[in-house]
Amino acid sequence: MSEDTHEARTPPGGDPVTDGGAERADEPAEDVALDPWGSATVGDYADLFAEFGIESFDDVADGVPDPHYLMRRGVIFGHREYDAVAEAMANDEPFAALSGFMPTGDPHIGHKLVFDELIWHQERGGDVFGLIADLEAHSARGMSWSEIDEHARDYLLSLLALGFDPEEGELYRQSDNREVQDLGFELGSKANFSEFEAIYGFDGETNISHMQSVVTQTADILYPQLVDEPKPTVIPVGPDQDPHVRLTRDLAVRMRYFKVTEAFASFELDDDERALVRAAYDALAGGSDDGHEINDAETDVRCTDAAEWLADYEPPEAVAAAKPDAVDTLRAGGKEPLRPRVRFFDRNATDEAFEALIEAVDGEKRVFGGHVDAFDLSREEAESIAREVEIDHDGFGFRQPSSIYHRFMSGLTGGKMSSSIPASHISLLDDPEDGYDKVRAATTGGRDTADEQRELGGEADECPVYELYAYLLAGDDDELTKTVYSECVNGERLCGGCKEQAAELMREFLADHQEKRADVEDLLDDLDIDLDSDRRGTGGEH
Ligand code: TRP
Ligand code: SF4
Repeated sequence: MSEDTHEARTPPGGDPVTDGGAERADEPAEDVALDPWGSATVGDYADLFAEFGIESFDDVADGVPDPHYLMRRGVIFGHREYDAVAEAMANDEPFAALSGFMPTGDPHIGHKLVFDELIWHQERGGDVFGLIADLEAHSARGMSWSEIDEHARDYLLSLLALGFDPEEGELYRQSDNREVQDLGFELGSKANFSEFEAIYGFDGETNISHMQSVVTQTADILYPQLVDEPKPTVIPVGPDQDPHVRLTRDLAVRMRYFKVTEAFASFELDDDERALVRAAYDALAGGSDDGHEINDAETDVRCTDAAEWLADYEPPEAVAAAKPDAVDTLRAGGKEPLRPRVRFFDRNATDEAFEALIEAVDGEKRVFGGHVDAFDLSREEAESIAREVEIDHDGFGFRQPSSIYHRFMSGLTGGKMSSSIPASHISLLDDPEDGYDKVRAATTGGRDTADEQRELGGEADECPVYELYAYLLAGDDDELTKTVYSECVNGERLCGGCKEQAAELMREFLADHQEKRADVEDLLDDLDIDLDSDRRGTGGEH
């Protein structure tokens, strides 16, 4: 992160993306802290790292070529495996981005973050998808089809007005995408109700269509990989959507025909044990640290030798706990020689696919009932053979999808931003004058009097107006955010003038955006998206 001003920021949070207005009657179980249909508020974003395994964006930021301002400013704070996407982007390899929008109300400045993230990935050469989550809005929010049609149109107009290129990317409605429906059906066969109960707090009262909309979302997330080939795919969303991302990452693995691991002998090892056995093997075989220089066929390291070596070895902290088991496993291996290999497990493969895999493995191999060991392949080569064979035999060969998470914006009136409190948020359809007025009326992180402000400085980290600058109004201009921030905290900036400047920028942004929306009406009408659906029905609730 090139700016250090946001690190400690823990905004009260709001839920612009999921329309935090609707409260659920049945509260989810206590331990469901990220609820896609609840009113998501995140107390401390850092908790999400330890609790859910979301990783800090800082860890990948250096690998992102020319990062977006939302990345530079810490608004995008977390990710799962975004390095895969960053790497593809840097190497001009295929990658994709996809996000979805529930058409429950007007698109607002919270949605704009995601629109911008999609467009940015598109500008960098990704295959980019924007979808209207109409099945979810109907089943989980009870929106009527005519309301959905109207809102869907507004989301799409804003996305196009901000620069989404529909020639390069794809826009669709969940209900109209047959491939997504079919994929959802397949994915649903790898998930069960107990899992939905645990992840989402679903219970016997949850309507079935709502569950179907979850399966549809997992299909949305993997859909970009049906187009051309499996590829790194990022899902830009708020952290409330992380349960869907986690589930989809699991399903992507469960769908695979083969699992590729590294092994040293006939027995199985977990990752930590494997690191220890590798250390023993490298030491005894006398090769380089990474083991790659060793001519395996010429070494004669037996399991028992490795067990004795390992028993005296002081392992790195991270894998120390695995030592007793690793030693036992090696002892049980007796005189069996240790030889590094890659192992392909049959998970879901058809007989023909398993046969084809055996055929596809070059060099020395050993075939067992449920697995194949290959002695002359690297892990990467093995992964790509497994994927190719799978795809040739009616499998998908999915990669696990990646994600990035943005902070929720605070409400302009303090507290969380909520679609049900118009003054708390700014709709992209707000009259520019109303937008101006809302910013002028916003709560700030300012002090009670001007004198106090000059003396103590304002609290930019607690100020919704500062957020407006950082998340939207300053655009790519880092100098502006830095100036506002430092002038504020140093007491050189007073809230009246600061809000006036922000309000004018907001008025300008809205006027400009709405003009662009008008300009893309024809473009939208030319696209093959049915915004006048003839669907019937009343939909569900939670
Ligand atoms: N559930 C998302 C929301 O509440 C909408 C959505 C549907 C979505 N499918 C998606 C988001 C796929 C990201 C990826 O807004
Ligand atoms: Fe917020 Fe600006 Fe006031 Fe600082 S000066 S507290 S940034 S409104």
